[in-house]
Amino acid sequence: MKFPDHFLWGASSSAFQIEGAWNEDGKGMTVADFNSFKKSDIQADSKTASDFYHHYKEDIAMMKELGLQVYRFSIAWARIIPDGDGEINEKGIAFYNDVIDELLKNGIQPFITLYHFDLPYALVEKYNGWESRKCADAFERYASVCFERFGDRVKLWQVHNEQNLMMRVDERMNLNEPDPHKKEQIRAQMDYHMFIAHAKAVNACHSIIEGGQIGCAVSSTVTYPLTNAPEDVWSAIQNNRFKTDYCLDMHAYGEYPGYYMAYLKEHDLVPQTCEGDDELLKSAKMDFIALNYYRTLTARYLPADEEHPKGTKVEGMNEVDYDMYGYWKIEKNTNLKASEYGAQIDPVGFRIVLNDYWNRYRLPLIVTENGLGTADELTEDGKIHDDYRIDYLQQHITAIGQAIEDGVDMMGYCPWSVMDLLSSHQGFRKRYGLIYINRTDMDLKDLQRIRKDSFFWYQKVIETKGESL
Ligand code: BG6
Repeated sequence: MKFPDHFLWGASSSAFQIEGAWNEDGKGMTVADFNSFKKSDIQADSKTASDFYHHYKEDIAMMKELGLQVYRFSIAWARIIPDGDGEINEKGIAFYNDVIDELLKNGIQPFITLYHFDLPYALVEKYNGWESRKCADAFERYASVCFERFGDRVKLWQVHNEQNLMMRVDERMNLNEPDPHKKEQIRAQMDYHMFIAHAKAVNACHSIIEGGQIGCAVSSTVTYPLTNAPEDVWSAIQNNRFKTDYCLDMHAYGEYPGYYMAYLKEHDLVPQTCEGDDELLKSAKMDFIALNYYRTLTARYLPADEEHPKGTKVEGMNEVDYDMYGYWKIEKNTNLKASEYGAQIDPVGFRIVLNDYWNRYRLPLIVTENGLGTADELTEDGKIHDDYRIDYLQQHITAIGQAIEDGVDMMGYCPWSVMDLLSSHQGFRKRYGLIYINRTDMDLKDLQRIRKDSFFWYQKVIETKGESL
């Protein structure tokens, strides 16, 4: 299998998960810092993470050795504007200038995400972050600063990482409202403000950067019906729509699809809008769709009853995969193996998602996350023999090749993650990297960078443009 010459081979990371230096050189605290500090006594937090801030030259040299053509990473908004909407921090600008220049010097194209779960905490204190429309204005300003300062060298951009998933996680949105209905109203308003911010950033990118390309980054999946009973098939479709598709439709077409608007109306969740919003949302045309893919889901119909009215969430579930009465219930797929952390591994599902998005939106696709999180252990020879990760990546890259043969326009692939990093839930116990970082949750050790077996395997894949697969 040989991939086209224009196909970009890359790898990914995000600011709070690798940088460390959480309060150095003027950086402000972020929601991601705040949340990670809550668990500081039991697992790694964002204070040091992989210490990319102090190791970036060494890390970029390794990326070059790996053969990366593109590196997808994020900028910490609070490094550029520490309190979110005030003064610009020149030291933060200088850090990212250095990273960008170092990448270019090594022949690697920078691909920047503007916001990866790390809202400046000051905006939460000022007006509960995305609940206020002011947050969308602050984001537009921050995005414009990035485009103006870095756009001469950076042409590839992503707006929010996984708005559709972030929105479901109360901690990431700083959603503390005790009344369940009010909480859903605030969530819907926050979601809407993020769509407004997305549209403003897309338009700003196009007007500020010559040749700039920008897209969203969704958390993607496909939901299979548990049985072929029509109500189960419909439930599976609904699960996909409510957790992902409505978001992609909004990004691509600038309006909520009918089923979603009907749901918002039926449950008294319609957000407040402003004059001119419709035009703004429709005017913002993405250049590509970026997607993060880890696993698939399976669902069946979950009837509502008197005690559990239609549209109420089932309590006790994890927030990301919540069940909803009158809509769906998530079930285990017995045909699939799961990772040790429960993600159901499904390369065929990947091919389905890629075909589906291409058929619906006809926009080029780029994968900005895909990978296997495991508790890798250093062996006595000082190496990491991660054949399980090689197997995972091999199957998923093959699925991309098949999707290309199916006719899907694929721009590239950036597995998660270039190096071990702070996992969003399991600290440094769960590792995704091609490069091992020698630290544990509670012991920083020497932070040495060690190439895993998957590093050498991926290097060969890139070198041969997929022929070695
Ligand atoms: C994605 C996020 O949803 O999943 C990453 O964009 C995250 O930031 C990745 O690390 C894997 O999830 P986790 O919880 O295993 O770190």
